[in-house]
Amino acid sequence: MSLICELNDLRRLYHKRVPKMFQGYCESGSWTQQTLKLNTSDFDHILFRQRVARDLEPRSLATRLVGHDAKMPLALAPVGLLGMQHADGEILAAQAAEEFGVPFTLSTMSICSIEAVAAKTQSPFWFQLYVQKDREFTKKLIDRAKAAACSALVVTLDLQMIGRRHADHRNGMTAPPRLTLPNIIDMARRPRWAMNMLQTSNREFGNIQGCATGVDDMNDLMKWTAGSFDTKLSWEDIRYFRDLWQGPLIIKGIMEVEDAKECVKLGADAIVVSNHGGRQLDGARSSISTLPEIVAAVGDQIEVWLDSGVRSGQDIIRAKALGAKGVMVGRPMVYGLGAMGKAGVTRMLEIFHEEAELTMAFIGHRDIKDINRNDVVFQHEKF
Ligand code: FNR
Repeated sequence: MSLICELNDLRRLYHKRVPKMFQGYCESGSWTQQTLKLNTSDFDHILFRQRVARDLEPRSLATRLVGHDAKMPLALAPVGLLGMQHADGEILAAQAAEEFGVPFTLSTMSICSIEAVAAKTQSPFWFQLYVQKDREFTKKLIDRAKAAACSALVVTLDLQMIGRRHADHRNGMTAPPRLTLPNIIDMARRPRWAMNMLQTSNREFGNIQGCATGVDDMNDLMKWTAGSFDTKLSWEDIRYFRDLWQGPLIIKGIMEVEDAKECVKLGADAIVVSNHGGRQLDGARSSISTLPEIVAAVGDQIEVWLDSGVRSGQDIIRAKALGAKGVMVGRPMVYGLGAMGKAGVTRMLEIFHEEAELTMAFIGHRDIKDINRNDVVFQHEKF
């Protein structure tokens, strides 16, 4: 464990252990991947102001996120098919988050179901909803999340249509999936992954299978996914979900001030400034460069979160300095999970916590709540 010093160590191990097909699914962005790259490179233009001779005891990253205590301002983002990165992936990531003290978000498109994750965890997790054309099915998902005592509903709005990621087409992550000979050989060369997969009892498609969707295998799931998202959404539709869900409501996938204002109007508790990790609209701005204008417009009325491109504890502090209440991380969780299962997710969280705490101290603060815009400067005019 001591050799895992930074996220890149987990990523290298992830590349060794997880089949290429699922690596590509995790790491790729859409089309030219311009937005995917900007998401991370734009963080590099935010530089810290070092301070000295400060009282740095005691230090705390503890935060309240949509009314719940968290050990640091971070939640694990919803990631579809997490159970293909590591057997029982959603359960293991949820357990790691629970033990560490941060929220875990279960995707609509998970492999382990809402009920399976609830059965293996003690504290509530968050449920992410993709709005389906079939409103009855969507409503049933919300009812299941309520029955499992999920403590927040995350409604993702930036996936009415699915972005095209070339790696998925090349690797056979299509509808239907192509299990080519190279794919099978590649999987067989990852014995640890394959053994785990063979041993798991979770062989269903979590929230979708067995709900009158006709989904029985991966092939069905991919076809169902391609045809089921609602391409005719309106803010009125979202209001309907606000009425159905009385707990904290988080709207994910907001990149423009006007859309952020709509979320305030409908009474959402938080928004996530997110371009889906560069997987949807290629050529969109990075989330971090969009954050300041959204915080300026609605930050005093709603919690403004950020995801897409957070790769270290330092990035958490950068996002906090620009006004984010918290961040979500997608790929960092996948790297940890694919590399070492639950222990890998825990290690990622430890690394991010340590980096964030140390950075906070170097810029002269001992409480995360004190981080502010004066703690950073920009290297160019972008922000
Ligand atoms: C995602 N994301 C995502 N979002 C969501 O609301 N529901 C989902 O099922 C998925 N699935 C998914 C799969 C994979 C492989 C990735 C990488 C991402 C988006 C995710 O929640 C988050 O917005 C991004 O991952 C954030 O960017 P980073 O942290 O990966 O850079």
